[in-house]
Amino acid sequence: MKTIVLGLSGSIACYKGAEAASLLTQKGYQVYTVMTAAAEEFITPLTLRSLTGNPVFNDMFEDKTTHISLAKEADLILVAPATACCISKLAGGIVSDLLTLTIISSNAAVLICPAMNEQMYKNKIIQDNIEKLKKYGYHFLGPYEGWLSCGYRGKGRLADVMDIVVEAEKLIQ
Ligand SMILES: Cc1cc2nc3c(=O)[nH]c(=O)nc-3n(C[C@H](O)[C@H](O)[C@H](O)COP(=O)(O)O)c2cc1C
Repeated sequence: MKTIVLGLSGSIACYKGAEAASLLTQKGYQVYTVMTAAAEEFITPLTLRSLTGNPVFNDMFEDKTTHISLAKEADLILVAPATACCISKLAGGIVSDLLTLTIISSNAAVLICPAMNEQMYKNKIIQDNIEKLKKYGYHFLGPYEGWLSCGYRGKGRLADVMDIVVEAEKLIQ
């Protein structure tokens, strides 16, 4: 059975990350979720634990080997939604939470699905960070144009969940 480590960072689109977790679980993947503290402001670990049937990880200091075993077991690391903060931490090698620590410690393919306000997405610092990660082989999907929770249309919306699942399956082969 292939293993996907699903990272959720602190975006309103976390509920869509939960849908991706459910769809991937239904397709027979072993899904382990890692949530940032900010992600837990939007959705609870219980939701992900219930949808995946697996424990949810969030505390870097709970067990000294969690990030190593997640990093090793992962056939794919999917970050959906990925915040500007999470992307920028990765680009800077700042591994101050379990999600970034796991990603940086892994040789698995990484698929990042950004979700943020359009102005954040267009910010040159964020664009530079995305380009840097692409240069180092990180895969990106989205963001899409469409309705943003800030109350207008623009580019920043999380990619459609079905597209995320299709892309994840492509990368895991
Ligand atoms: C209501 C609300 C919605 C937010 N949505 C997003 C978002 O979609 N994308 C984003 O990059 N940041 C968003 N933020 C800001 C992040 O939650 C914040 O930068 C946080 O530090 C991200 O931490 P993390 O990357 O460790 O999860 C939002 C904040 C609030 C209060």
